[in-house]
Amino acid sequence: MAEPDQAAFWNDRYASDDYLFGTQPNAFLAREAHRLTPLSRVLAVADGEGRNSVFLAQHGHRVVAADVSQRALDKARSLAERRGVDVEYVQADLAEWDWPHETFDAVVAIFIQFAGPAARRTMFDGFRRALKPGGMLFLHGYREEQIDYGTGGPPTVENLYTVRDLLDTFSDWDVHHLASYDAEIVEGTGHSGMSALVDLIARKNI
Ligand SMILES: C[S@@+](CC[C@H](N)C(=O)[O-])C[C@H]1O[C@@H](n2cnc3c(N)ncnc32)[C@H](O)[C@@H]1O
Repeated sequence: MAEPDQAAFWNDRYASDDYLFGTQPNAFLAREAHRLTPLSRVLAVADGEGRNSVFLAQHGHRVVAADVSQRALDKARSLAERRGVDVEYVQADLAEWDWPHETFDAVVAIFIQFAGPAARRTMFDGFRRALKPGGMLFLHGYREEQIDYGTGGPPTVENLYTVRDLLDTFSDWDVHHLASYDAEIVEGTGHSGMSALVDLIARKNI
């Protein structure tokens, strides 16, 4: 189960009219989105203020984006409107969501590290459920080493990824890309500076 005050916490973080993580897509997603088949049906989880869902819609994909924060969804809708694209925005606590069944060609999960181990397991099961057979997961976030950088993400090491855990969790998937690296990122004021990152792109087996 998610922390009970997550929605209030994130509504507060998003209170300003500025976009906390900017309006440009996450660099990993911008780099790797070419792998999506045209007109993919994409689920963007914990999508925040819409930078990633709007980018995907601008590239012609049919996007559903979910987030627990109503303020995030309002800002995301307004970004989509300004960019002239349609995205279906859904308010949902992803630790308790009734995940759709084999509906999506891709799930995009960028910096979803509000989740501790139990909620993360629930969400990873949800990704598996929501993807069609052969569907693709695009996951990107901080590794445990991020704690030392302190340039973004939660101060809770168990919320962060290790390559070993990801490989164990997705051992029955077809891993197309796995990269562990440190890089300077600039994503609004929310994520800024040298960061310990990991990318995973994996296909759910048919
Ligand atoms: C670090 S932000 C990342 C937002 C977005 N993925 C991005 O990269 O710009 C984490 C997001 O998770 C959302 N969130 C936190 N707890 C959640 C939950 N239980 N269910 C759904 N979304 C949640 C927050 O509202 C916030 O938008």
